[in-house]
Amino acid sequence: MSAKRRAKRVDLAGVAVITGAGSGIGRATAFELARHGATVHLADISGPAVEAVVGGIRAAGGSARAHEVDVTDSHALEALAARVYEADGGVDVLHNNAGIGFSGPIEQTSVEDWRRIVEINLMGVVHGITAFVPRMLEQRRPSHIVNTASGLGLIPAIQLAPYCATKHAVVGMSQSLDLELSPRGIGVTALCPGIIATGIVKHSTVRDESGLRKQKAVDFYERRGASPEAVAEAAVNAIRKRRSIQVVPAMHVYPAWIAGRISTRAGAVAARLADRLMWRGE
Ligand code: NAI
Repeated sequence: MSAKRRAKRVDLAGVAVITGAGSGIGRATAFELARHGATVHLADISGPAVEAVVGGIRAAGGSARAHEVDVTDSHALEALAARVYEADGGVDVLHNNAGIGFSGPIEQTSVEDWRRIVEINLMGVVHGITAFVPRMLEQRRPSHIVNTASGLGLIPAIQLAPYCATKHAVVGMSQSLDLELSPRGIGVTALCPGIIATGIVKHSTVRDESGLRKQKAVDFYERRGASPEAVAEAAVNAIRKRRSIQVVPAMHVYPAWIAGRISTRAGAVAARLADRLMWRGE
């Protein structure tokens, strides 16, 4: 590799900041980047959860620091960025990952439900961007932002309109930012996982009359979900290859995504099939 290309590479052994790092995909990315030698700053709304991840990384010989942060609070993200820059002087990888799920019939979805998911899944990413990007532009080294969107940022899904709205927004935002920022040294990836076996469904509101839907979804994610470690590896790969969209696992997302790009009707058929598979176990 030429010296010029090497100089443009993001240092995976540098400094990383990950939100929603107390569980699931964020936790797995924290371990993966620490394994590459990064000093990882881990933020989560749950202090004890993120402390436990920090403990695990340190026990494995890595360098990690916990921060109790609610991503809906722009001031808290700003304070986090100030702390990280004071401690380590730069950020090589920012992973805006914290998020929640929400599912339910639209007539049972209140304005408060919409606001909550938009505040966490969309504004949480926005707050990460506004706090860190000005500082990342000032530092004289290349860096990368991974925004966790979802396969549902590329395709539609039934009873998931608020979630899909936030994740489609994160994909559009990430692609636009990648175009704007990559010539200035910051690559941006929209990470689009399919079904991943994490705590997401357990931590989510699933509204239904029968009360059975949530348990069905928990079982489905445990049975069919890919590992969060596979997502973490894909995220690191996306940073290395400077991909603006990273789907993982490919088979969970590509068929419906491609169907939808060929024709809206084909995409709708794929979305209905996915819904049947998930809720009725067909
Ligand atoms: P998870 O529930 O295991 O982890 C999410 C973490 O985010 C938790 O530790 C939680 O405490 C934290 N969090 C929630 N609200 C927060 C807030 N306001 N401020 C700071 N931290 C907060 O879920 P998972 O699956 O690891 O989710 C991570 C991201 O991946 C989310 O954005 C989710 O939408 C996305 N995703 C997950 C998929 C899956 O199948 N598990 C599929 C596609 C995307």
